[in-house]
Amino acid sequence: MSNIGSYEDRLKNFAWSIAEDELDYKSGEIINIGWYCSDRICQKGKADKIALYYEGFEGNEKKFTFNDVRLASNTIGAFLKNLGLKNEDRVCLFMDRIPELYFAFLGVLKIGAVVQPLFSAFGDESLFVRLDNAQTRAIITQNKHLSKIRKIREKLPNLEFIIVVDQVRTKKTENREIGFSLEDTPPVEKFTIFPTKAESPSVLHYTSGTTGQPKGVKHVHYSLISQYLTTKWVLDLRDDDIYWCTADPGWVTGTSYGIIGPWSLGVTQCVLDSGFSAPAWYKFIEKYKVTMWYSAPTAIRSLMKAGDEVVKNYNLSSLRHLASVGEPLNSEAVIWSERIFGKQFHDTFWQTETGSIMITNYPGMKIKPGSMGKPFPGITGAIVDSKTFEPILETGKVGLIAFKPGWPAMMRTYWNNNEKYREKFVNGWYLSGDKATIDSDGYFWFIGRDDDVINTAGHLVSPFEVESALLEHPAVGESAVVAKPDEVNMEVVKAFITLKPGFTASSDLELEIMNFIRKKLSSLAMPQEIEYMDNLPKTRSGKIMRRVLHAREWGEEIGDISTLEND
Ligand code: PRX
Repeated sequence: MSNIGSYEDRLKNFAWSIAEDELDYKSGEIINIGWYCSDRICQKGKADKIALYYEGFEGNEKKFTFNDVRLASNTIGAFLKNLGLKNEDRVCLFMDRIPELYFAFLGVLKIGAVVQPLFSAFGDESLFVRLDNAQTRAIITQNKHLSKIRKIREKLPNLEFIIVVDQVRTKKTENREIGFSLEDTPPVEKFTIFPTKAESPSVLHYTSGTTGQPKGVKHVHYSLISQYLTTKWVLDLRDDDIYWCTADPGWVTGTSYGIIGPWSLGVTQCVLDSGFSAPAWYKFIEKYKVTMWYSAPTAIRSLMKAGDEVVKNYNLSSLRHLASVGEPLNSEAVIWSERIFGKQFHDTFWQTETGSIMITNYPGMKIKPGSMGKPFPGITGAIVDSKTFEPILETGKVGLIAFKPGWPAMMRTYWNNNEKYREKFVNGWYLSGDKATIDSDGYFWFIGRDDDVINTAGHLVSPFEVESALLEHPAVGESAVVAKPDEVNMEVVKAFITLKPGFTASSDLELEIMNFIRKKLSSLAMPQEIEYMDNLPKTRSGKIMRRVLHAREWGEEIGDISTLEND
């Protein structure tokens, strides 16, 4: 791998200053991700290079150069600044994957504000808890998502501006709505970017835990250093690449590697704003001659399910490098991709909290199908004992995946929850909350999460959030939510409920409750199955024992149930 150096060489001579030097960044100086992803690329002579090929779900196509990205992000930045928004204010992006989402991401960063991307399929309750927690001052959205915001805005006194990008320009109305269309607004050529420093807050992504409400993971502008270098070395992005990251920027992959990584390198990327379909995906790769493809195991398993025949209708020979993230990449998927595309998917492991890739199958490294690979150079990773928190040196023994803190993209705290943040660090290690083993060659093998969080199609769902939402339905007395195995999505949400007096179990009621959750939270969080129970298993102190229900779903030993209430 001449372009990026071998894993062994990089390990020997690693320093994050390699990225700082390539980005001409000097400690203590200004660093602004918005500038790095647009203005700097133009200054490097790539103003006319295509930054983005966009295709909407109706097949509408658009393309934008790096100069277009620079101007559009300036224009949005200037508009926000004129409204009185300032550095460190939280500005939420609540949009489909339309070009404005990508431009606004950089525009918000250019004014030094904190960008809070949220998945546009979130229902009003999911949206509310995240806007409330971040005390968000402005939300940028589309007409089609306005009804959800209108439902909750009275409960959000800090939310001063509801900016709608597909409405003609209007003044702020009494109900805080403002129309703002990029097409009607003269492009802003010169914009003074806020002088953010390494530790200035940048992106706020929400992630789900086992207990409590979702946590806001605070990142800073210095994260660019990790994101730039991992994009260059792990995703192996080169100047002439056409890159496709299939993730939505509502999730961290869609920002770290769907905006910041490729654009800070000045690489052309393409976005397909539509749901999954095997023919549509293959057609997209063929049409744009995608060379580097970063996707997720559920998508790969769905492609496998669609069969080998459909692939034959497309010319996919442009593909040079493939990578995957978000959930365990089973060995069958790696073997399949080699047979079908002549290339193996390179698994990468990381988290919202880590901000950048931590464990990876580095290009050129021998892939052991089913393994996540080894820590990225510059990352010290280990498997630690769950009681002593000391590294386990024995190969094949299960422990917790842990990292030595200090890489540039590491989260700086959980928003308004420093206590939860501190709990993530024990004995000098950052604990990821996942379990794995290491083999004698130093490869990491994923075992599972160390908590009850459900990973469905690569997206984390908090059982607590679903249980709480279920309790708001008039028929539900008690609820317990666990993961249920699923062939394609790996896990799906399953709910166990007891009914309140006067309600009778029926499949109609099951459907009604499912829909209730879909609207309130999202389709990802919607239980795929609801089982009615007379009683839920509880400890003597009255705590619902999810693990008993989980074990039943997975056909596992139930373990110690000596504290069970009705044994
Ligand atoms: O459980 C691990 C799983 O996804 C979690 C992180 O989810 P999130 O913060 O939403 O970020 C996802 C994209 C970076 C991890 O704690 N996970 C992520 N990558 C892998 C994985 N599980 C197995 N193999 C992976 N490669």
